[in-house]
Amino acid sequence: MEIYEPEEDSFLMQAYIKKYSKGVVLDMGTGTGIQAEEAAGSKKVVKVFGVDINEEAIKHCIRNQKSKKIIFATSDLFTLFKVDRRYIGTKFDTIIFNPPYLPNDPKIKDKALDGGKKGYELICGFLHESKNFLKPNGKILLLFSSLTSKPTLDNFLIKNHWKFKEITKKHIFFEDLYLYLIELEK
Ligand SMILES: C[S@@+](CC[C@H](N)C(=O)[O-])C[C@H]1O[C@@H](n2cnc3c(N)ncnc32)[C@H](O)[C@@H]1O
Repeated sequence: MEIYEPEEDSFLMQAYIKKYSKGVVLDMGTGTGIQAEEAAGSKKVVKVFGVDINEEAIKHCIRNQKSKKIIFATSDLFTLFKVDRRYIGTKFDTIIFNPPYLPNDPKIKDKALDGGKKGYELICGFLHESKNFLKPNGKILLLFSSLTSKPTLDNFLIKNHWKFKEITKKHIFFEDLYLYLIELEK
């Protein structure tokens, strides 16, 4: 499986990581580890988990690891924190996710891009599970695109009692990228 090389979406997100990360951080779908390493560079951050479904990506992250604050491990979404006795019960102050957010293209099999049939299914599954892994004041930094169907995602968030704020938006080529800060309603 190919490792996702940082692109515009990665760099847009990276620019906000230090500002919004604190405590125990999870970088979901870490890829090359770009967001995990950025978070680890903040004094407000004590520990970072960088996980990815792609084993090759995790091997790459471990080989190139800079910060000792990070634990890189293979995981399908939150599986690691449900099955590995060392990590069961771990909760996060910040969860970062630059997810696969494109609608499924049967001709292209790429787990780094494929967000499900319409592009938002994996994100919705992730948000659903996140409720069990966030500390009481925990926050999620989520990146997605206009190709993901923003109205559907906004509706999903509202229906599921999430509060959200658009931190930034950027137009690139044929899409808009959005970065949201998300937390549970009190
Ligand atoms: C768009 S890339 C982002 C990579 C990196 N975080 C960045 O900002 O450059 C999405 C990443 O999510 C990973 N991924 C896809 N499905 C996943 C899943 N179910 N659980 C964990 N990671 C997943 C992919 O392997 C890929 O590395």
